[in-house]
Amino acid sequence: MHEVHGDAVTSTAQSIRDRVRKAIKGQKQKTVTVLSCLLAVEDELGWIPAEAVEEVAEFTEATINDVWGVVSFYTNFQTQPLGKHRMEVCWGPTCHLVGAQKVADQVLKSLGLPSEGTTADGAITLRYNTCLGACSNAPVVSVDHHLMGRMTPSHAADAAERLKRGESIGGGHAS
Ligand code: FES
Repeated sequence: MHEVHGDAVTSTAQSIRDRVRKAIKGQKQKTVTVLSCLLAVEDELGWIPAEAVEEVAEFTEATINDVWGVVSFYTNFQTQPLGKHRMEVCWGPTCHLVGAQKVADQVLKSLGLPSEGTTADGAITLRYNTCLGACSNAPVVSVDHHLMGRMTPSHAADAAERLKRGESIGGGHAS
């Protein structure tokens, strides 16, 4: 049993490495940097695993420490895997003016999180966003890339509860 688990872990790590290499090598721009590689990885995986740091270091001939330095400098890079579902609460000025704080507080409470991050069961990741591009419908929340405008704390709680029950959210209540 232990061996099977070990194999599964190894094969997951290998598939992550394969996806990382493909993302790094697939960059179309002329100038490839540590930052551009990390962005390509984040586009592919949604986060930066340790394997990616190693691959980026090798590809760009930088040191692993240098790559970690870039990862930690840009706080938007996630170093933990994302949950199956993603909620983003807009924290931009327009949303802030019309109640984003209360919406965010409610989402944190519903998900049992102290701040941005992923729920203990790994199911839902909450992030703040500086503008979800639908300011006229502020306050705005995005659930699995589906925009929900004119959010109230109770709508936000409802969306969070539905995600916790494993329901998908789509259609209706769009921006
Ligand atoms: S500030 Fe929230 S959508 Fe633009």
